[in-house]
Amino acid sequence: MADGKAQKVADAILDRYRARTPLSREHHRRAREFMPGGDTRTAIYYTPYPTYMEKGEGCRIYDCDGNVYTDYHNNYTSLIHGHAFQPVVHAAWEQLQKGTVFGAPGQVMYEHAQLLRSRVPSMERIRYTNSGTEATLMAMRAARAFTRKDVFVKMDGGYHGCHDFVEVNVWSDPDEKGVPIPRLTAAGVPVDVVRNTLVAHYNDLEGLEAILKANKDRIAGIILEPMQGAAGDLPAQPGYLRGVRELATRYGVLLVFDEIVTFRFSLGGIQAIEGIKPDLTTLGKIIGGGFAVGAYGGREEIMDLFNPEKPGSVSTSGTFNANNITMAAGIANLKAYDQAAIDRINALGTRLRQGFNRAFRAADLRGQATGQASMFTIHWTDASLARASDSAQHLIPAAELVKLLHLEMLSRGCFAPRRGQYAISTPMTDRHIDQTLEELAAALEYLRPYIVERTPHLLGS
Ligand SMILES: Cc1ncc(COP(=O)(O)O)c(C=O)c1O
Repeated sequence: MADGKAQKVADAILDRYRARTPLSREHHRRAREFMPGGDTRTAIYYTPYPTYMEKGEGCRIYDCDGNVYTDYHNNYTSLIHGHAFQPVVHAAWEQLQKGTVFGAPGQVMYEHAQLLRSRVPSMERIRYTNSGTEATLMAMRAARAFTRKDVFVKMDGGYHGCHDFVEVNVWSDPDEKGVPIPRLTAAGVPVDVVRNTLVAHYNDLEGLEAILKANKDRIAGIILEPMQGAAGDLPAQPGYLRGVRELATRYGVLLVFDEIVTFRFSLGGIQAIEGIKPDLTTLGKIIGGGFAVGAYGGREEIMDLFNPEKPGSVSTSGTFNANNITMAAGIANLKAYDQAAIDRINALGTRLRQGFNRAFRAADLRGQATGQASMFTIHWTDASLARASDSAQHLIPAAELVKLLHLEMLSRGCFAPRRGQYAISTPMTDRHIDQTLEELAAALEYLRPYIVERTPHLLGS
């Protein structure tokens, strides 16, 4: 059926978006004069232009045109208590009046570290950075320095920030069968990075073991997310993480858990849920209370490499590392994120994810939401998804639909990243979940003529 309805739906969605956001369009036009494409953060760019947000309060966020949204973006999962959370505002404000950073350590630094270690005991010693990107960079440096080996194993589709050493197979090649061939996914990264990186499929212990067996003398460590986030919230299958731990131990390589996102799932991240002790862990996002942050830590003997009291220690610095504002805000943020809060948002996230899955089934569409606890991502397929290449396969045929559902949900007051990732924050209640489920059902209904014409493979049997 090609009667032009699809184009009408697509045009109407774009027109509505433009009509609601004229000031965003104007901001974008001006930003483009000074910045490439008006952008400084690829992950938040989308066409026709991103919505400019002006203020947030709890789980509400307001754009510059006065539209209000329920914020499922939460700055890519980092705002666990939503916006302007009063305990964080007070802690930061109090500290702000005393000074932001002094070129000297402050008490809040080790108090923050003490709090982190009480929740993540495998982080016997901790250092801070200003981003998750730097945290994974430094954790990998620690592993390389400790083992005196250069090669790292990462997962296909694994995201650990945007430093050179992890710009390998960030995007999965859906056509690739068998062992993933390491390839750079950003221009400008030296090819030497590929020579020092091996890539395994997520949830594939056999493949990982084959890589370790063939290369163990060259490998410093394995880095992975205990749930793959950017690849589409693909959880580890039962036994996988434990299996990775066992393989790392058996082949004498270090294991780095990147819990920058998954720390939100429990008081001690996925490692606490699974009872697994990685050698090194990276954290970020929620530990800074909305301020720029990253942390890495692990076994004392590894982290002692950075101990300036020891001869020949590894030097790493950062002007704003563990600055007082971030530390004070982070402590207030984490203290309020207790077991009761975690249980509550995990339950809300599960309800919303299950509701999304029901909505796809009710609309007779091949779509699904995968993830766990307080977050998930939409995929346009009903096939089971174990690894990044499984989800990547379905992205291309559904490409316009991802964009249209995103814009349609925005116009219906639900703010989430373009890729369709939803993260719960503590100010949310069942009321927000119910409302969002209604909006999703209406959006799917609205998109139906588009799907019938352009992506009929997504219609149910
Ligand atoms: C798993 C993971 N690691 C590392 C990073 C990088 O953190 P940052 O954006 O703070 O540099 C991210 C960011 O989304 C992430 O999801």
